[in-house]
Amino acid sequence: MPAGGFVVGDGQKAYPGKLTPFVLFTCVVAAMGGLIFGYDIGISGGVTSMPSFLRRFFPSVYRKQQEDATKNQYCQYDSPTLTLFTSSLYLAALVSSLVASTVTRKFGRRLSMLFGGILFCAGALINGFAKHVWMLIVGRILLGFGIGFANQSVPLYLSEMAPYKYRGALNIGFQLSITIGILVAEVLNYFFAKIKGGWGWRLSLGGAVVPALIITLGSLVLPDTPNSMIERGQHEEAKTKLRRIRGVDDVSQEFDDLVAASKESQSIEHPWTNLLRRKYRPHLTMAIMIPFFQQLTGINVIMFYAPVLFNTIGFTTDASLMSAVVTGSVNVAATLVSIYGVDKWGRRFLFLEGGTQMLICQAVVAACIGAKFGVDGTPGELPKWYAIVVVTFICIYVAGFAWSWGPLGWLVPSEIFPLEIRSAAQSITVSVNMIFTFIIAQIFLTMLCHLKFGLFLVFAFFVVVMSIFVYIFLPETKGIPIEEMGQVWRSHWYWSRFVEDGEYGNGLEMGKSSNQGTKRV
Ligand code: BGC
Repeated sequence: MPAGGFVVGDGQKAYPGKLTPFVLFTCVVAAMGGLIFGYDIGISGGVTSMPSFLRRFFPSVYRKQQEDATKNQYCQYDSPTLTLFTSSLYLAALVSSLVASTVTRKFGRRLSMLFGGILFCAGALINGFAKHVWMLIVGRILLGFGIGFANQSVPLYLSEMAPYKYRGALNIGFQLSITIGILVAEVLNYFFAKIKGGWGWRLSLGGAVVPALIITLGSLVLPDTPNSMIERGQHEEAKTKLRRIRGVDDVSQEFDDLVAASKESQSIEHPWTNLLRRKYRPHLTMAIMIPFFQQLTGINVIMFYAPVLFNTIGFTTDASLMSAVVTGSVNVAATLVSIYGVDKWGRRFLFLEGGTQMLICQAVVAACIGAKFGVDGTPGELPKWYAIVVVTFICIYVAGFAWSWGPLGWLVPSEIFPLEIRSAAQSITVSVNMIFTFIIAQIFLTMLCHLKFGLFLVFAFFVVVMSIFVYIFLPETKGIPIEEMGQVWRSHWYWSRFVEDGEYGNGLEMGKSSNQGTKRV
């Protein structure tokens, strides 16, 4: 799907336009989609560590938790229904993001956002009023459907609305709103867990209705993107809208390019098979490997289960929820560092630095847990310094993720795909991300039970593999206009054998009028 853009020839012409208050407003509203995704990520771990919630819906887990602390602590949360509660959402999101790509293309981004918002609202209400486990799961599935729609349409919306110069910052802005959503959920869990009568979990789960209503109402007032209007044949309206968005009268150059881009992308009959062609091998590899590795950092073990994990290593419910708030704050702050540094220090530097930092922390956490819990999971008395060391290293680990694989796991794929495969490749990135989010959520508690402290070493192993992968295979994309991205593959020692000179000159089937080089962003 084309989004904004410019034409390059011998010199480089930039489209006129500025970051108007109008565009800023629409982007802030649209980014609320990220807030909701984050809220869902952050909320489940907190409620599953609330005793009143467990007693009501997962009594067997509750009983194990109440048993003698001298028993094996690694397995107290190992319950298939409990993991299904957390992970069902991601499976639903995976399915609906595939459906959403058609809705987004045929009916516009707004409608997908509206669907997303309505499904979220329904899911949040069912969860808030849940009386049985099945209501919880149905609610989570509806939330997941909502996320699929929102995650498909919001990033597209943002990059189509944004003037090209600000696209990178706005892209990480979406990740920032995910981290804020996670933090808000963790703070609310902390306070709601204290409510007498033990019904605070209802507020935590039902609270998702607030950001859901914002995106639902927001999508009713947001304009659709000019790109989407053109795609649906509304050329005049699109031109008027583009003038308003860019804050200038002369938008003809960008408009003409959008029309041409739309024609080009519509002339591709089989975007999915197109993706399998040899020259797209580097892109396809990155579309799959980057989200795969992002999840294999093990970040969602912390995001979903931090309170459960802290509980396992001997914290009280209150201290566990508080520690989750601390890690959530580090997550937000470190994302800001990434926004600041990504175009200065480059993607590769952040990937490699973040990887090293995560690796060291995983080794320390594994050693700490192994030293106290051993293989049978019986810690005895845990001193305070011990808890402080574990939480500190988990925070350093989260910071490492939040300025590397977190934002870059979304940014890098979005900037390397040429137009003709962008939509299909982006769907692959989203789907792979959801599949592995689901798998990790589903098996973590069982893995903790069986692999014990060694679980952290499994993720550490993957961090080594992904860092080597980045070092060897990922070219630096900092400061390279998207329309010239082809050069990074052509000059790469390995990928150059798949791409040929002139391949990336044109936005469509390569080779035609290639040197003129018209690419839409
Ligand atoms: C990842 C999520 C993760 C979040 C943490 C995102 O980039 O896709 O899976 O929970 O970062 O901040």
